Amino acid sequence: MIKESNVKTSKSIGVASRVRRGADRFVKASAWPRDFVWGVSTSSFQIEGATSEDGRGPSIWDTFSAAGRVANRDTGDVACDHYHRYAEDVALIQRLGVQAYRFSVAWPRLLPKGRGCPNEAGLAFYDRLIDALLEAGIEPWLCLYHWDLPQALDDLGGWLAREAASWFADYATLVARRYGDRVKRFATFNEPSVFTLFGYGFGDSAPGVSGPVMLGRAIHNVNLAHGAAVDVVRALVPDASIGAIHNYQPCLPATPNDMEAAELFGAYWNNAFPDPECLGAYPPRLVAAMEPYIHEGDLARICRPIDWFGLNHYSPIYAKADPNAPLGFTFGPAPADLSHTPIGWPIHPEAFHDNLLEVSARYHLPIYVLENGFGGNDAPDAAGDIVDTARITYLKAYTQAMHQAIAEGADVRGYFVWSLLDNFEWGSGYGVRFGLVYVDYPTQKRVPKASFLWYADLIKSVRRQGSQRATI
Ligand code: FCB
Repeated sequence: MIKESNVKTSKSIGVASRVRRGADRFVKASAWPRDFVWGVSTSSFQIEGATSEDGRGPSIWDTFSAAGRVANRDTGDVACDHYHRYAEDVALIQRLGVQAYRFSVAWPRLLPKGRGCPNEAGLAFYDRLIDALLEAGIEPWLCLYHWDLPQALDDLGGWLAREAASWFADYATLVARRYGDRVKRFATFNEPSVFTLFGYGFGDSAPGVSGPVMLGRAIHNVNLAHGAAVDVVRALVPDASIGAIHNYQPCLPATPNDMEAAELFGAYWNNAFPDPECLGAYPPRLVAAMEPYIHEGDLARICRPIDWFGLNHYSPIYAKADPNAPLGFTFGPAPADLSHTPIGWPIHPEAFHDNLLEVSARYHLPIYVLENGFGGNDAPDAAGDIVDTARITYLKAYTQAMHQAIAEGADVRGYFVWSLLDNFEWGSGYGVRFGLVYVDYPTQKRVPKASFLWYADLIKSVRRQGSQRATI
């Protein structure tokens, strides 16, 4: 029987003060796990640009942004121009001192129509990137899908079509064959619950449709695609280490009347993917909704052995009931006494601590935190420096909370900051900055922020103390 444990009250995540009291003393005195991986993450559409260059086909995010559905009518056409500046970006990653870099491959760059004839120029771009990383001593962590579905496949139904699982398996085959000699860390999907909820449930991300039926179909087809891709990569790259990347955050009721909404939101947000993928069943609250899409044998196809759980975490979510919303629930206000980032995301490191313990106990897989970061509106000061003290404070508190969770038994093996660069932040466009490196978009000049130096120092000090003793 699967336990539904993602819904908590503010009171229960308030183990907080206990964590905070112990943290400083503890972290100074104790060790990080040996071989802990420090990294940094990005994704293809958010940084690459060059959307119509060298044979790349359009993705659903090109279509969505061309329709003016992103803030300021921003598009990914240029983004951080990483397609041309990847060598400079690899040098920055090397300077940061991380051991690993998580990026995603743009499906429409490799297969402009989503399937059929591969695009050699697109394949060659990731050859160059991977080779540059390896040369710099950085391990490439390759994510197959970070939301940029080829538009040609969306035209055939996209994730609403059951055949999407075999389209994805064919794409994974191409990737594994081409890069499997050099890449050993593969993730299938990034945050499947976020892109299905926003793209097919709420309707405010690409492809921008909404309703419970579409959401259910999309969830199930993405789960099938995950299982199919795990099998393909495992067969083609026998020494691969394979996982999937899930957002996981407490979903709390905005008011005492929103308990029901919070439970349902939490089931979609946290468990709709990892439960079937790792435990072989949909969470109890979603069983009825998912039942129409499940064919015999599907859950066994979805639940394939994987090696790790990629966890993305930023802040708790507050849910409220809304009978007019497509799914009957929506985002509610966070308690007024919680501090938040400039983009309004609550800051609550104790919730992160609790989630790490919860995910470790629920899924019994090593955890890699593959996204955690701070969204702001950074700008250079008079001297041209970007002194992002609030980001440093956030990262410090979250890494301390993680360290405490490890001490209490959470099996966390690595931590990656989101993100290397300021970039295209989906519906918010370029107005929101998450980077350790500031990007001046008109000139594409990169300027490491104070947080870049702080993170580099943290990694250096952890690694310097061979026994992995460090003060953060
Ligand atoms: C996550 C996404 C990532 C980025 C961060 C801020 O949900 O995976 O691409 O947008 O949020």
